[in-house]
Amino acid sequence: MFIATTSFALLGLASFTLVGSSPAAQYQKLDSRQVLDLPYQRCDTHNGKCEKRSTGFILDVGGNYTRISDAKIEKTFNGIKFNTPGPVVRGYLFDKDVNEYEIFRLKNRQFSFDVNIASVRCGYNAALFFSQMDVEDKPGTGYCDGQNVCNEMDIFEGNAAASAAVLHPCNATDKTGKCDPWGCGVNTNTHIPTLVGPKRHIDTQKTYTVTTQFFTSNNKVNGELVAVKQFASQGKKTVALPTLSIDYCNQQEAGNPYWNVTGEFPGISRSWDIGQVLIFAFWGSGGDSMSWLDGGLANPRCNQTLGKSATGEVTFANIKVDFIRKITVSA
Ligand SMILES: *[C@@H]1O[C@H](CO)[C@@H](O)[C@H](O)[C@H]1NC(C)=O
Ligand SMILES: *[C@@H]1O[C@H](CO)[C@@H](O)[C@H](O)[C@H]1NC(C)=O
Ligand SMILES: *[C@@H]1O[C@H](CO)[C@@H](O)[C@H](O)[C@H]1NC(C)=O
Ligand SMILES: *[C@@H]1O[C@H](CO)[C@@H](O)[C@H](O)[C@H]1NC(C)=O
Repeated sequence: MFIATTSFALLGLASFTLVGSSPAAQYQKLDSRQVLDLPYQRCDTHNGKCEKRSTGFILDVGGNYTRISDAKIEKTFNGIKFNTPGPVVRGYLFDKDVNEYEIFRLKNRQFSFDVNIASVRCGYNAALFFSQMDVEDKPGTGYCDGQNVCNEMDIFEGNAAASAAVLHPCNATDKTGKCDPWGCGVNTNTHIPTLVGPKRHIDTQKTYTVTTQFFTSNNKVNGELVAVKQFASQGKKTVALPTLSIDYCNQQEAGNPYWNVTGEFPGISRSWDIGQVLIFAFWGSGGDSMSWLDGGLANPRCNQTLGKSATGEVTFANIKVDFIRKITVSA
């Protein structure tokens, strides 16, 4: 996450309301021990069948529970929907059977999900990302990211105007190193603004699918991570973002004082060998507050159609890990 570390000190995940699946359902208080079922599909099994993982969503318990939040966390069909009325809402995927964080290792794999960010305005950031947190930590605790000492791979940080995928490598996997707080990334608003956005080819006013592929040097899980490629699909249409490759990052990050001293691709590659935790978050304060992501109010999209300060809700659904499949970019 591209956000000052100090912001997380403000975490105030006081109490939560849980909305039932029908809009008329009664709101319930959700405290730190309550979780939502959030299974996902693992289709990289050797018998070729998809396995439904028995995972759940658990809120971060690191906040200050004396603060009252109006966050709505709602179970949807195969997914989760939430907002942030406060500074930030954050939660994690954990394995319900063993009560530990679900650990993902995505080298030579692809990771996909459906997202609906139609109502998430400029200046807000609805995120689905990975960080190399400790599996030993109790679910709901132990947050860390690339702003401090943990390797982080942002799959999706976005709103209706823009989304980014960003690598934040560290030069160690044991929290003793330095990480790149800026990261090397791609952004739909910067790189493919005519292809992804409100009323664009991939219309961010509707649900679409984000697929991210993790290529290795030998096309096996034990190879070095060498490229990360992301696609956005909607109906029969698929577009690609520029590939996050070693060459791309070395060029793109020439002015980034952190990239070349904090591990680069080998750093993030080592962290995927250990495994990363899946994190959901939503934060921001509208206006220009997420200008690194959406260009701020100077961006016509933000200024006109999407420039309101109201915060929306994000839905992430149909999460799936699979072997790398051939994806054809199409009109
Ligand atoms: C929690 O918030 C209350 C009220 O703002 C404050 O007095 C208290 O010190 C906070 N506690 C922690 C642990 O941050
Ligand atoms: C990580 O980078 C920092 C800052 O550049 C350096 O001081 C430290 O020695 C490096 N650690 C490793 C394990 O390379
Ligand atoms: C890292 O990149 C900077 C330019 O951003 C350059 O001055 C420096 O020499 C590089 N360091 C290494 C270790 O390659
Ligand atoms: C918003 O757009 C209008 C017209 O396109 C422009 O005049 C105005 O300066 C913009 N506002 C900001 C804050 O960029």
